[in-house]
Amino acid sequence: MDKYAKAFVKASLVYLGIGVVMGIEMLIWPDVRYTHGRVHGHLLLLGFMAMMVYGVGYHILPRFMGRPVYSHRLGNAQVWLANITLIGLSVSWILEASRGGMWHLLAILFGLGQGVSIFLFIFNMWKSMTPQKN
Ligand code: HEM
Ligand code: HEM
Repeated sequence: MDKYAKAFVKASLVYLGIGVVMGIEMLIWPDVRYTHGRVHGHLLLLGFMAMMVYGVGYHILPRFMGRPVYSHRLGNAQVWLANITLIGLSVSWILEASRGGMWHLLAILFGLGQGVSIFLFIFNMWKSMTPQKN
């Protein structure tokens, strides 16, 4: 398994752990639902679910197609971008609720970065499945 694919699977498991702890936290202290609900949801969907799909997808999909991953460099870049922006987005969303201002702007920037990381995956997977002309 490529290093970045394994890194995605490991990160995914870490977000599953953090996300579930936050879910239980919200059951115990319902007051934090307003600030933590969105972070819980996105750590689990963008963190656990999506990163598990990225990791397993990078490993399995090109093999099913009998071709290598189009770009390992893009795969490596995506691991960093996806993780840094998800953590940044989560922290910004929590602080935006109490401090607003700069944190709202940071949430937008990290959200855009997360979007870019998603498009890196779409592009890399698409190219991996398209027959090369040579
Ligand atoms: C022990 C496991 C879990 C507990 C105790 C839990 C608990 C909660 C609670 C208390 C809320 C807030 C509901 C509200 O505001 O009315 C919530 C929202 C949510 N949960 Fe979980 N959850 C768990 C696991 C998961 C998992 C595994 C996923 C996804 C893979 C997930 C996805 C979501 C989503 C998408 C929301 C809505 C977030 C939003 O308001 O934007 N949860 N959960
Ligand atoms: C760049 C990535 C993303 C950004 C910046 C983003 C942002 C947001 C925002 C701002 C909200 C509204 C939150 C609120 O009203 O409190 C939201 C809601 C939600 N998002 Fe995302 N999202 C992203 C990706 C995703 C993905 C990939 C999924 C699913 C796999 C997802 C699932 C949800 C769900 C389930 C809700 C709650 C909907 C509801 O309560 O009506 N998001 N998201």
